[in-house]
Amino acid sequence: MSSVQLHEKIPNNVDLSSDQRLQRALEEWQPHFLAWWREMGPERFQEDAIYLRTAVSVDAGGWAHFDYVRMPEYRWGIFLAEPVPERRIGFGNDFGKPVWQEVPGEHRNTLRRLIVTQGDTEPASVEQQRRLGATCPSLYDLRNLFQVNVEEGRHLWAMAYLLHTYFGRDGREEARALLERRSGNPDKPRILGAFNQPIDDWLSFFMFTTFTDRDGKYQLLALAESGFDPLSRTCRFMLTEEAHHMFVGESGMSRIVERTAECLRAGKEPRSAGALDLATIQKYLNFWYSLSLDLFGSEVSTNAAQFFGAGLKGRPREEERYQDHLALEGSYEMDVYEGGQLVPKPIALRSAMNEVLRDAYVEDCQKALGRWNKRLEGTGAELVLPSRRFHREQGMFAGHCFDPAGHEITEEEFARRRDEWLPSDADRAYVRSLMAHPVLEPGHFASWIAPPPRGINGQPIDFRYVRYNEQ
Ligand SMILES: [Fe+2]
Ligand SMILES: [Fe+2]
Repeated sequence: MSSVQLHEKIPNNVDLSSDQRLQRALEEWQPHFLAWWREMGPERFQEDAIYLRTAVSVDAGGWAHFDYVRMPEYRWGIFLAEPVPERRIGFGNDFGKPVWQEVPGEHRNTLRRLIVTQGDTEPASVEQQRRLGATCPSLYDLRNLFQVNVEEGRHLWAMAYLLHTYFGRDGREEARALLERRSGNPDKPRILGAFNQPIDDWLSFFMFTTFTDRDGKYQLLALAESGFDPLSRTCRFMLTEEAHHMFVGESGMSRIVERTAECLRAGKEPRSAGALDLATIQKYLNFWYSLSLDLFGSEVSTNAAQFFGAGLKGRPREEERYQDHLALEGSYEMDVYEGGQLVPKPIALRSAMNEVLRDAYVEDCQKALGRWNKRLEGTGAELVLPSRRFHREQGMFAGHCFDPAGHEITEEEFARRRDEWLPSDADRAYVRSLMAHPVLEPGHFASWIAPPPRGINGQPIDFRYVRYNEQ
C-alpha cells in the first residue's frame, strides 16, 4: 500500500516528494488554485469554520476525517486508489494487454482531451454554486453545499495532477487554463453546456447534484475502466466522494418532496404553505435532466467508438456486466432520422457507446425518482422523467422539438407550451422569493424543506455545522 503524506504542502499518496520537478510544478500551481478559490469559490462564509470531511487516505474503512475548517485552509490533496496488481486492459483493441503506466504516444491527444473535459466540470460547478450560501435553508444544508464545493476542488486537483505528471508542458498549460475559464462567461466559457448554466436557487442545486453529478458518476465509472492506469485509479477514488454529492441532491429533493406531500395530504396548496408545488418541481426536473442527458454526447458517435477501441473509456463495470469486451460484432438498435422520419436501425455497438452509458444513467435516475415518488404516496401525484428526446441540445434530437412524452411537435407548439414544461420566469421568481433569506439558526429549516432524518457523521441535526460569524 502506498504511504500517505499528509503533512506536506500538498497532501498525497503518490510519493510526490520523490519527483522534485513535479512537486515544484504543482506547488507553483497551488497559489493559482487558491487565488481562483478566493475569487470564484463560495461567496461569504470563507472565514467561518465549517464541519467538513477531508480525504486522508484511500482506505475503504476510514478514508475521511471530519473537523471544523475554514474553506481556504482545506487540505486539498492528491489521492489515487490502490493499484490493482497485474491489471490488464479490459476492453477494446488492446484487450488483455497490461495497462499503461505512461501515456501511449498515439493516444496522447485524445487522453488529454478526456482529462481536460472532465477536469473543467469540477471548478465549473463551484463557480455555478457560489452564491447559494446567501439563501441556504439550514446550517446542515449549507455545510453540505460547501462539502460538495471543496470536493469538486479536490477533483480539480486530481485532474491537474494527471495533466502535470503525464502531459509535460501542454499539461501544465491545460492545468492553468482550467483555472482561467469561467462558468457562463461568453468570452471564456466552461467546455460543456450544463456547466455554464447558473445555479441560483436551491431547487436547481438539488436537481444539479441529483442529475448532473450523476452524469459525473457515470463518466467516472467509464474512465475508471481506462487502460491508462493512473486515470483509472484517480477516478476510482473520486467516485467515493461523488457518492456524497448525489446523496446531497437526492436526499435534498426527497425532503422538498416530503414537505410538498405533507401539504397535499393536509389538503393545502403547497405554495400557500410556503412550499414548492409539484408542477414547479417537475419543470426544474425536466430542465436539469435534459441538460444532463446532453453531457453524454451524440447517440451515434465516432469519438465514442474511438475512445472504446483505444481502451481509453469503457462501459461502467465492464468486466462484470459484459461478455464481449471487443464490441466489434454486436449492434444497438435505436431510432435514427432517415428522410425526416425516426426509424429503428441497428447501429454498430462501438458507435453507440454514448447511448450505452446514457442507458445506465437513465436507469439510475429512474431509481432516484422512485424514491421521491415514495414520499408522494397517497397524494395521487408523482414525478416522471421526461423522454430522452425532450429539450435536447446535443445529439440527433437537437434542432427538433418534442413534448415530454417524446412526441415530435412543431417549433410553434413547443414555444407555445414551453412554460408548461420548463421553468418560466414566473416560476423562477416564485422559487427565488421562497428562498429569499438564509436560515442560520442551528436545527431550523426553511418552510419548503423537511429536516433530514439524521445529521452528518453521527452529529445531531441541530449541530452547528457552520460556525457562522464566530471568531
Ligand atoms: Fe467532481
Ligand atoms: Fe460531484
